Amino acid sequence: MNKLIVSLLLTLGITGVAHAAGDAAAGQAKAAVCGACHGPDGNSPAPNFPKLAGQGERYLTKQMHDIKDGKRTVLEMTGLLTNLSDQDLADIAAYFSSQKGSVGAADPKQVARGEELFRGGNLDKGMPSCIGCHSPNGVGNAAAGFPHVGGQHAQYVAKQLTDFREGNRTNDGDTKIMQSIAAKLSNKDIEAVSQYIQGLH
Ligand code: HEC
Ligand code: HEC
Repeated sequence: MNKLIVSLLLTLGITGVAHAAGDAAAGQAKAAVCGACHGPDGNSPAPNFPKLAGQGERYLTKQMHDIKDGKRTVLEMTGLLTNLSDQDLADIAAYFSSQKGSVGAADPKQVARGEELFRGGNLDKGMPSCIGCHSPNGVGNAAAGFPHVGGQHAQYVAKQLTDFREGNRTNDGDTKIMQSIAAKLSNKDIEAVSQYIQGLH
């Protein structure tokens, strides 16, 4: 691992907020309304709705707080989290995290370029590989809050990378790690790495 990644890992790792422990059984009932879009077990059937199954608890909790507080805009979820307490969000995170995430298939024509970017980064542009934080098999690092991306819908992944690049998603912390990485991805590269991620497990 290079020094840049190590220092980023440290920065991101120690600035997290401590949250109440979640209860997955209680979370299942509280997540009923979410299933309409994200799937009852968190394996969303629609490519524009992210899969939440198997996602790290810390990452899920942070995103829900960010969406609730307006730090990340998700119009489809307007008002849905308003009446949920910190404990409710922790329980829902525990529930989706405990479910098994499904994996999709990658477009075979995009795999080679996607794998090159994911595993090797882009030396010419000084972009680190994705595996340093999201791990070689895409499971991420739950304790550090680095999301599990393997198997996620390509359409959703491509939208996130584009949103980070265009400044439409800015909740990646003071280091702006994903905004600076996405700034070095062309549209073609975003398409390729998103396809690779969809089939990654
Ligand atoms: C009407 C559809 C809809 C419903 C209902 C819904 N969501 Fe979402 N949710 C979305 C969409 C769309 C996104 C991603 C938006 C984007 O492109 O950034 C999202 C994103 C998320 C994310 C971020 C995932 C990630 O990988 O970063 C979390 C966490 C989440 N939703 C939790 C919930 C919870 C909890 C509920 C129920 C209380 C819920 N959602 C209900 C549509 C929905
Ligand atoms: C230094 C660590 C680091 C590196 C390297 C990194 N990421 Fe990330 N990534 C993160 C963190 C942290 C987040 C969550 C930000 C937040 O809290 O919203 C994230 C979020 C994401 C998301 C959004 C996930 C979701 O469910 O919405 C995608 C997609 C993603 N990264 C893809 C990539 C790709 C592709 C690469 C390589 C080109 C990469 N990342 C490299 C740390 C990293």
